[in-house]
Amino acid sequence: MIPIASRVAALRPTAVNSILADVRAQVARATPGPLVSLMRGEPDLPTPAHIVEAAAKALAAGRTMYADQRGEPKLREAIAVKLLRDNGLQYDPATEILVTTGGTFGIYAALAAMLNEGDAVLVPDPVYDAYLSPIRLSGGEPVAVSSTIENGRFVLKIEALEASWTPACKALLLNTPWNPTGTVLTRQELTDIAAFCERKNLTIISDEIYEAIVYEGHTHISPAVMARERTVVVNALSKTYAMTGWRVGYVAAPAPFVRAMLLILQQSSRGPATFVQDAAAVALTGPQDCVATYLAEYSRRRKSVLESLPNVLAPEGGFFAMLDLRASGTPSDQIRKKLLAESGVVVVHGAAYGPGGEGTLRVSFASGGEVLERGLAKLSQALRG
Ligand SMILES: Cc1ncc(COP(=O)(O)O)c(C=O)c1O
Repeated sequence: MIPIASRVAALRPTAVNSILADVRAQVARATPGPLVSLMRGEPDLPTPAHIVEAAAKALAAGRTMYADQRGEPKLREAIAVKLLRDNGLQYDPATEILVTTGGTFGIYAALAAMLNEGDAVLVPDPVYDAYLSPIRLSGGEPVAVSSTIENGRFVLKIEALEASWTPACKALLLNTPWNPTGTVLTRQELTDIAAFCERKNLTIISDEIYEAIVYEGHTHISPAVMARERTVVVNALSKTYAMTGWRVGYVAAPAPFVRAMLLILQQSSRGPATFVQDAAAVALTGPQDCVATYLAEYSRRRKSVLESLPNVLAPEGGFFAMLDLRASGTPSDQIRKKLLAESGVVVVHGAAYGPGGEGTLRVSFASGGEVLERGLAKLSQALRG
């Protein structure tokens, strides 16, 4: 037997990976016919052609050597341009930006560079479940901050942050637009949260991966606007440009912390491929009409979800809708399993994202077309039936 380190015992497969095991078992049973999945957070749209062409051109030009470990200078400059253009944030590409293999590595590097054994990290509940294992891997402990559903949206109150805070807390992990809830934090909410973090001397790790997908007048604001010196901005091209498989993202933070994350990166991933970085620079500074086109497509899908399903909390951002089924009194995992076994539709139970998600289901509209149509028809029939 090859020994396994004890730290691995604290790690868990993500909710989506656990559900995939259930899906495989259901497929093996061959009932109730072909399954339809409204589960994953993966755009079904292609990476825009001009970005693909930029990668192909870079490959043909021999851009296959080791990349600069901070990220290629051209890409770091493109990120600085983007941060100023879209977020009103000024970062020095030479010292305050690090290119990462997707948002996932940005979150990992931030946690690994920050946490000591026994440090706690405040995480909203419900939360993207893949934050929890990297916190533990770095010796930290996630501490849930209860959210509440008010006027059809999940909210994170300062009283809840106060209630969860302990002197062991070192950081708050924020995600706006917020997966799985669909909430886009407002300027006032962020101002209050930033003031709380200031009072408690907390760092904000801000995952902004869904920033470009916001609806009906909601706008994405980075908490770095209010608290630049205590914020680590984490972002990636995965969702905005439909580039999930390219594995390219970035972090922006004050220079000493970027140096610390660089050491983590140098000893592990060493960043994305050089030709991928060239294409990412083109994505960020080239024509942005693809972003608007994709947003229009997600808006149409969101409208179908709102029109088809009962008890939907209208998402303000991202491509997930939460169904509020708390009134049924049935555990969300039980509802999810029944939908899979009897209707052949795959969704994620809210409780997979923490107790705060209990009584809800997360429905993804990252896939559209026939998949979404069939999935919504099945869901509607099962939930209204
Ligand atoms: C909130 C959030 N952060 C990060 C990620 C992962 O991003 P990436 O694919 O760029 O690593 C996801 C993917 O679903 C996500 O939902």
